[in-house]
Amino acid sequence: MNLTPKEIVKYLDKYVISQKDAKKTIALALRTRYRRMQLSLELQDEIMPKNILMIGSTGVGKTEISRRLAKMMKVPFIKVEASKYTEVGFVGRDVESMIRDLAINSISIVKTEKEEQNKEKIENYVINKIVEKLLPPLPESASESKKDDYQRLLSAMEKKVINGEMDDKTIELEFDKVHLEFADTNLPPEMAKVQESFSKIFETMNKEDNKKEVTVKDAKSLLKLEASNKLLDMTNIHTEALRRAENGGIIFLDEIDKIAISAKSQGRNDPSKEGVQRDLLPIVEGSSVTTKYGVINTDHILFIAAGAFHLTKPSDLIPELQGRFPLRVELESLTEDTLYQILTQTENSLLKQYKALLSIEDVKLIFEDEAIHAIAKLSHKANEITEDIGARRLHTVLERVLEEISFSADEHSGEEFTITSELVHEKLDMVVEDDDLSRYIL
Ligand SMILES: Nc1ncnc2c1ncn2[C@@H]1O[C@H](COP(=O)(O)OP(=O)(O)OP(=O)(O)O)[C@@H](O)[C@H]1O
Ligand SMILES: [Mg+2]
Repeated sequence: MNLTPKEIVKYLDKYVISQKDAKKTIALALRTRYRRMQLSLELQDEIMPKNILMIGSTGVGKTEISRRLAKMMKVPFIKVEASKYTEVGFVGRDVESMIRDLAINSISIVKTEKEEQNKEKIENYVINKIVEKLLPPLPESASESKKDDYQRLLSAMEKKVINGEMDDKTIELEFDKVHLEFADTNLPPEMAKVQESFSKIFETMNKEDNKKEVTVKDAKSLLKLEASNKLLDMTNIHTEALRRAENGGIIFLDEIDKIAISAKSQGRNDPSKEGVQRDLLPIVEGSSVTTKYGVINTDHILFIAAGAFHLTKPSDLIPELQGRFPLRVELESLTEDTLYQILTQTENSLLKQYKALLSIEDVKLIFEDEAIHAIAKLSHKANEITEDIGARRLHTVLERVLEEISFSADEHSGEEFTITSELVHEKLDMVVEDDDLSRYIL
């Protein structure tokens, strides 16, 4: 995608308020990759991505920025929690599995694209198969006039299948291949191989009884899968997907602070944390990882790490790893004003969500501007008094304000509720002022 950094930031602005630095840095990193891809292969090899470390307390938009970005750019993207990996040799997921996950993500992107490009072919295949089942073929010896009739019948049936008239009829389908894809991608490649041979055995075993009665409606989606596996060149897709993962892939490494070892609390730390950091090094630096679909080189994958770094600091990561994240951005904590904007200016804002939910009960919610200001103000206050949980505070606060209305909404069908600042204060003042209460309730 060849969006300029400005365009990327503009898109992000629709969903994430403030955090200008983070948006700019990431937008620039993405643009740099686009620029790189336009260069000669020789130069391309030389230019390494600059990985990013996002630092900011909880609920200020770290994950949100990355999530929105990946959605827009349609690049292979996965979000993983650094804390869920364990050092090789320990029980748990090894870090290389994140590369395999990225490959799978990339394959599904490429496959969807190819399916879109071959939509007509795939649809024809599906419809033909179903029509064949519904109308048994004519014997060779049939007369010319019979054949003409049959042709007419065929095209009439085709139309019926396409517009859904036949959806409730059942037909018998036989499957060429049992689609026993073991979806478990967590396995190391040797194990994956074992699994593959197992599924091959299963396939041959199942050959005999692979007929199934299904409705035409279900057949449409079942056959679509078969069609795309048959008509699309899967090897081709895998190659293309691996190439894209290598050159455009982004791995969002969340909670990286959780694998840092703070200098203060040495001794009480999990020994495998440092191991995970060491295992991460070669992957972030660039190495080859074997997947079921081929080898992926991680040199040009962009890593965006994020963490709150409350108990630890970036300098608590082992120095080699710190060095692999040269771009640092700090996200600001949210002010009262930012919270107000998050409520009012984001696409799919919480207020919109609540309104939409209650509209299902035919209840109309109206928020007075004063009330929204009050919600922002009290949320900010609660963040200050107890813990700063960023924009997530808005969820708990709004829940408190709307609890009763939400609970009894079905009895007020057709009515209108106006949320005033008085109501907000009435619901929240006591709670926010009381330190203990707010710890429990908000
Ligand atoms: N600056 C912001 N603008 C708009 N929405 C925000 C902002 N910051 C947070 N949010 C909202 O708050 C929620 C939590 O944000 P997010 O998941 O990005 O937090 P985070 O920074 O990744 O926190 P954590 O460190 O706990 O993972 C999301 O629903 C998100 O939409
Ligand atoms: Mg997060």
